[in-house]
Amino acid sequence: MSKPTYYITTPIYYPSATLHIGHCYTTVAADTMTRYKKMRGYDAYFLTGSDEHGQKIERAAAAAGMEPIRYVDGIIETFRELWRKFDIDYSDFIRTTQPRHEEVVQKIFRKLKDKGDIYLGAYEGHYCVSCETFFTETQIKDAGGVCPDCGGKVDIVKEESYFFKLDNYAERLLRYIDENPDFIQPVSRRNEMINFIKQGLEDLSISRTTFSWGIPVPDDPKHVIYVWLDALTNYISALGYTKNDERFERYWPADVHLVGKDIVRFHTIIWPIMLMALDLPLPKKVFAHGWILVNEGKMSKSKGNVVDPMILADKYSTDALRYFLLREFIFGTDGNYSEDILINRINVDLANDFGNLLSRTTAMITKFQGGIIKAPAKKTEHDDELLELFKTVPEEMAACMEKLEFHNALAAVWKIVTKANKYIDECAPWALNKSGNSEELATVLYNLAEAIRISTILLTPVMPNTPAKVFVQLGIEDKPELGEWQALAYGGIPAGTEIHRGDPIFPRIEAETEETVKVEKKNKPQKKDTKNEQKRENTDNCITIDDFAKVELKVGKILRAEKVEKADKLLKFTVRVGEEERTIVSGIAKYYDPAELIGKNVAVVANLKPAKLRGIESQGMLLCAEKGDQLELITIDTIDDGGRIR
Ligand code: MSP
Repeated sequence: MSKPTYYITTPIYYPSATLHIGHCYTTVAADTMTRYKKMRGYDAYFLTGSDEHGQKIERAAAAAGMEPIRYVDGIIETFRELWRKFDIDYSDFIRTTQPRHEEVVQKIFRKLKDKGDIYLGAYEGHYCVSCETFFTETQIKDAGGVCPDCGGKVDIVKEESYFFKLDNYAERLLRYIDENPDFIQPVSRRNEMINFIKQGLEDLSISRTTFSWGIPVPDDPKHVIYVWLDALTNYISALGYTKNDERFERYWPADVHLVGKDIVRFHTIIWPIMLMALDLPLPKKVFAHGWILVNEGKMSKSKGNVVDPMILADKYSTDALRYFLLREFIFGTDGNYSEDILINRINVDLANDFGNLLSRTTAMITKFQGGIIKAPAKKTEHDDELLELFKTVPEEMAACMEKLEFHNALAAVWKIVTKANKYIDECAPWALNKSGNSEELATVLYNLAEAIRISTILLTPVMPNTPAKVFVQLGIEDKPELGEWQALAYGGIPAGTEIHRGDPIFPRIEAETEETVKVEKKNKPQKKDTKNEQKRENTDNCITIDDFAKVELKVGKILRAEKVEKADKLLKFTVRVGEEERTIVSGIAKYYDPAELIGKNVAVVANLKPAKLRGIESQGMLLCAEKGDQLELITIDTIDDGGRIR
């Protein structure tokens, strides 16, 4: 039987910009999804590439004194190098300057013109070269005379132009969106697009005569085809559309186009309409992820805050970065990046939780059993919970992956990692060894080795270089079949396996390196003198209801809780508040064992300005009741996280 197919794409990137960590985000997500689907037995196809035409590139090449094609050739090499570095295993890399692409764009143009969907007219309007986008009078006015997307200067252009009659298909598109609730995700973007279409679609100008770096309009070569029409076509030209290529039959329609939130309109209005006009099926899903911000703002060359993934990869390893990108940020909403957050995530999750689990386990197997993993001999009272997770977590992770909820998929895997660390403390193998209980000891160490193996399988799509390192330490490097999805069931490691203890696979990173401090300082906005701001206007103790309303109190669920190293009083929590996950540090370590708080619903001050405690950014506060030396965390029994407290 032939394998089911899965076709996933990233946007094709402009070669005018240096690729930054935001571009890596989408590409790592697509690569992870592809690897995951392949593990699950799919014939997965992953397309990425470069969007090389347009006035912006033409101008940049001229400024560099180069032919546009030579100019882009050089940049494309840096793209490929970056993807190699990040182990991006794409199936195809399309360049819009390749003849295989240009031919298809021209054929499509001709077909739509013959059908009457494209006509020749005259265009007068506002054009942003930087965004390669036309805007209406109203859009420009609303934005205060500048480009509504980038805030830059817009040119007034008047020229003969070909137009695409988008409105012919508006009704059909609305019906499609209505009948396919999963087509545009997240839902907020879907609603935005529905409203946009309902306002009426203007005919789209799709050719230009004022520059020449583009694909010529067939039979009228003084016009070049609008870059977006050109670029969007990549998703099918790469499959050999119109060329009897069996890949087109096999993979189209795409299962998902991953796009940033800024280019949803092109992918959910213009692209589907082009496909409808061509009588082709529409992609099953367009997923708009959020942006990675620096100090809550956009990265840009002019601000000097562009985060270069190459530098980070050399410093921290690509597996760690890939993990960080997918674990730290919620796919679908914006997230803030800083090198401290990155280091913290690596230290806590990879060095402490995962890395230590491997070191502790291999150390104990070496010390107590001469380096041999023995068969489980006698059940302990703590086994069931861990063994149950081996069954439920893969399903939970799979469900999250289908929804592109990478952060939750990884949080699910961490249930095994966290539980396994706790299991060590519960079972105290050193005590079993001391008391001569070798049967239970064998069980505990076997179960721990399996916990590591099983979680490693689940992490493979995200961290493709890690399994080989773990498997060497577990002594099963010659059994790659034990790393496959089909081998997830408990009991894979043969009894008698000899392990090979090694160095920590994710060494702890010392946060305050000079370089980190430098990067952080450069990115930080200047501190304002806040003394005056902090002066209270009212001297009495009363606040008005409006004052109180400023405090945003919400129900949060504690997903993780752990001690903060070298800080006796502090606990670090991962708290889910509706759609988002936050890190909150609280000084209640004296009163609670972190493990007992996991799963509790608590009261969170959600709009508290983030503060750094021991280098960890705390994004909120947990409310407690206090009297004398007693303290109790306020918990909520029946309202789910995300609920408001007032
Ligand atoms: N060439 C077009 C896409 C054509 S697809 C048919 C384009 N290129 S781009 O290089 O400017 O941007 C590509 C993608 O990068 C967009 O999806 C954009 O949202 C994404 N990102 C740019 N900055 C980003 C972040 N800071 N964070 C996450 N993604 C961001 O648009």
